[in-house]
Amino acid sequence: MSICAFIFDLDGVLTDTAEYHYQAWAALAKELDVAFDRQDNEQLKGVDRMGSLQFILDKGGLQLTASQKHAFADKKNRHYQQLIEHMSETDLFDGVHDLFAQLKQAGIAIGLASASKNAGMVISRLGISQDFDYVADAAKIKQGKPHPEIFLTVAQALGVEPAQCVGIEDSLAGLQSIIDAGMQSIGIGDAKVLEQAHWIYPHIKDLQLATVLKQAAN
Ligand code: G6P
Ligand code: MG
Repeated sequence: MSICAFIFDLDGVLTDTAEYHYQAWAALAKELDVAFDRQDNEQLKGVDRMGSLQFILDKGGLQLTASQKHAFADKKNRHYQQLIEHMSETDLFDGVHDLFAQLKQAGIAIGLASASKNAGMVISRLGISQDFDYVADAAKIKQGKPHPEIFLTVAQALGVEPAQCVGIEDSLAGLQSIIDAGMQSIGIGDAKVLEQAHWIYPHIKDLQLATVLKQAAN
């Protein structure tokens, strides 16, 4: 099947915001006196804001009212927004401009499937907003990753069949979302975490587009 679209996750794939999400959740977990480390955080990657908060509350056996939950989620988000305040074009991972140029040259559409409500601001700071043919609005997605809704929404908006899409993710939840959408998958990061992906690269700059396109077509 020839590939017509590449659909990217943002945090941890195109820039290092996954680290800032981790720092902000770790600070909140500390305030709530819940043990939370990088291994716990692997399960939060790709998971939406309220789902992530619930994971931490469950881990600490804490029960909060809906308004308390919203207050803590807002607090985490304010902290996260402080951490990304200084971001600029230099924070785009190496290799992204090159990859986008190669995709455009090949006539392959570029989509964004980030669960983050901050995604628009982040891609604007990175100077890549204009590179996308379609950007999913996280606020309109009803079922977060690992559900395939967000990747399917982007494919539909691009007018491309899921089987003609490659999804790119650094998170387990996101990878599951791609697989359940019936797309081919690229994992960026730890091969042990992302072993189910069709292709795995430690970093986006290592992605071998020619190899992926050739193997995807077979
Ligand atoms: C991405 C990140 C998650 C984050 C989620 C929601 O999926 O990988 O770590 O929790 O977006 O982000 P938001 O900016 O809306 O809180
Ligand atoms: Mg991610």
